[in-house]
Amino acid sequence: MTSFDYQPRTRIVFGPGKIEALGELASELGARRAVVVSDPGVIAAGHTAKGIAALERAGIETHLFDGVHENPTTENVAAGLKLAHRYDPEVLIGLGGGSSMDCCKAINFVFSNGGEIKDYWGVGKALRAMLPMIAVPTTAGTGSETQSFALISDAKTHVKMACGDKKASCRIALLDPELTVTQPSRVTALTGIDALSHALETFVTSRRNPVSLAFSREAWRLLAGNFARVLENPHDLDARGSMLLGASFAGLAIENSMLGAAHALANPLTANFDVPHGQAVGVMLPHVIRFNAAAVEAQYHDLLHESQNGSPLPKLEGGVEGLADFVAVLLAKADLATTLRSLSIDPLKLPHMATQAARQWTAGFNPRPVTEEQFLSLYQQAY
Ligand SMILES: [Fe+2]
Repeated sequence: MTSFDYQPRTRIVFGPGKIEALGELASELGARRAVVVSDPGVIAAGHTAKGIAALERAGIETHLFDGVHENPTTENVAAGLKLAHRYDPEVLIGLGGGSSMDCCKAINFVFSNGGEIKDYWGVGKALRAMLPMIAVPTTAGTGSETQSFALISDAKTHVKMACGDKKASCRIALLDPELTVTQPSRVTALTGIDALSHALETFVTSRRNPVSLAFSREAWRLLAGNFARVLENPHDLDARGSMLLGASFAGLAIENSMLGAAHALANPLTANFDVPHGQAVGVMLPHVIRFNAAAVEAQYHDLLHESQNGSPLPKLEGGVEGLADFVAVLLAKADLATTLRSLSIDPLKLPHMATQAARQWTAGFNPRPVTEEQFLSLYQQAY
């Protein structure tokens, strides 16, 4: 029997057009001044303006911080903090992909607790309560809206810092599928594979428990059943809604059970070769599934039981091998690389990356313990 401690911290508001309710929701939190944190791509798509209009309609004085970059850095956080100090907001709104939401959380850490963001690297370092935050995701990916971590890169060393604290959980996640239909197809591909990997990794970690399993299972059903649909028809709003909800449920699963070896293997690929996170996790995931089968074959079979007649989910008869193949086929369908060779990874760097992978925090939660030699062998299998 597994012990757990679960308290829902984030209200989830879901539905097409729900962005129009952003002002009312912020008012319910008692806010009269808001800072919206967003990135140039999302602003160009018009989503940020919709959010700001909804806030202003509710009489909330709103200021925009538009300085978020992909893989947000300590410099982005410092610039956003400066703007927050100027306007003294009562609510922060992260409107965009994982980068905008993470940058917003990071600004909140420092605005509410002082110091600099690296002071909060790790878990539970914040002493004071934080400003209420509303997350409005425009991609179905990281699940940042429902978990309490912000990933921020050091602008000088490029080291990615995971800053987590329950106090950094968003008060509200506003999930509007209409905001996700305009994303470029490559963003749909990269974020979708990441979300799917969250469902698969959380389902088997050593920390898994009845709460995380419920979220992982439903995330898997929603994501695996709809990923091919959004790739084929980006305007399929039902499929987009399922992906968005699936990514958020996967975020809740991460919050309750952490991640595993595919994420440990992915981080060195991103740090050394700039491989985008979704691509890095995706290329390693089929190999991690095969590796983990020795410890959690029954759990994978449990997931395969979710397949129903006519659904695109992998069938039970294929077993773990079929599950790993299913991920590889989705990768190819999404026009993502399925080998490290095709990503032009220097083979001489594999041992160095294996050393780095073994040091990743998430490596410790993989259901089958992984040695540095085994990390190297997983890279070699993926080459
Ligand atoms: Fe991820």
